[in-house]
Amino acid sequence: MQTMVTAVTGCLGFMGSHFTRACLSRGWHVWGIDKMTYASNLRCLKEFQNNPLFKFTKEDIRAMQHLSDVDIVVNFAAETHVDNSIMDSANFVQTNICGVENLLELIRSKRNYEMPLLIQVSTDEVYGDIENGLHTEQDRLQPSNPYSSSKAAADLLILGWHRTHHVPYIIIRPTNNYGLDQYPEKLIPKAVKYLTLGKPIPVHGDGSYRRTWLHAQDTAAGILTVIDRGERNTIYNMAGNDELPNLEIIKKIINYYFDGAQDQRWQEFVKQNFIRMGEDVRYSLDDAKLRALGWNPQRDLNQEIRALVDYYKNHFIW
Ligand SMILES: NC(=O)c1ccc[n+]([C@@H]2O[C@H](COP(=O)([O-])OP(=O)(O)OC[C@H]3O[C@@H](n4cnc5c(N)ncnc54)[C@H](O)[C@@H]3O)[C@@H](O)[C@H]2O)c1
Repeated sequence: MQTMVTAVTGCLGFMGSHFTRACLSRGWHVWGIDKMTYASNLRCLKEFQNNPLFKFTKEDIRAMQHLSDVDIVVNFAAETHVDNSIMDSANFVQTNICGVENLLELIRSKRNYEMPLLIQVSTDEVYGDIENGLHTEQDRLQPSNPYSSSKAAADLLILGWHRTHHVPYIIIRPTNNYGLDQYPEKLIPKAVKYLTLGKPIPVHGDGSYRRTWLHAQDTAAGILTVIDRGERNTIYNMAGNDELPNLEIIKKIINYYFDGAQDQRWQEFVKQNFIRMGEDVRYSLDDAKLRALGWNPQRDLNQEIRALVDYYKNHFIW
């Protein structure tokens, strides 16, 4: 197999770290770039720095002035928490839009045959919600909050830089990811954190909002699939197999946290009367185009969640 030199931005974040690990285990060189915001994981940095194939630069993608000679740039760097984007959208515009513009400019300033392939990690949230059925890659972008708007804007920038400057790209739009090393602002680690602190888990709305769940290692495998066999200059949806209402996930977490015992804290479980403004009811994707390349998610949330709850219970992060 050909050895690649890959720039991975956001390599110390949740999904970027799983992808970095997957590239290193293929024997690829990885140039990791990360601004090291609150969401980055120092344990991952220590792990990667033991590997001679890994080189790290602490940098903001918006401020980068030089792009080394790489085959691929995989952009995971982003502000990712919807609640934060509702409180203050400035960082979201700077990183998720201006940061991508800077990456595009760095790529297009290279000679045509030396331009690396840009893999942009977008999100299912750019389509907005869908009560029934599935979104295909042709569907209109209808984001519902500042986070998903900034991600949709980045996708559109890429289309323009491709048409005008011939920047080669693949956009992938994954559904909700889960796995180890996720910052505890996201549902699963956050719920475990609340239980560890002896607090009831806050539920958005009535808990009926549905998400499709995909393991971060399956996402990494999907990105490697599009690199290996994907069509260039196109968009791939990437969905997990497990669509569940949030409340069902929370019930599973409580059950595994207390080892099946009907703990009193379950009775104290409070539905907070907090509804995230613009909250999407359901996201769902048609990813037949990606599956036609031979990719399928290997992990099932129902089987993984017990081990995840144990992990987050024993690795308290605040
Ligand atoms: N987590 C999900 O469920 C999910 C689902 C679909 C798509 N995505 C997308 O996948 C990507 C990764 O998500 P995640 O959950 O791993 O994110 P994360 O919040 O866990 O990590 C983001 C990483 O990017 C770094 N970063 C932030 N701003 C930066 C900047 N300006 N320059 C350089 N580095 C910067 C942070 O330090 C952090 O290490 C994002 O683009 C997100 O939109 C996430």
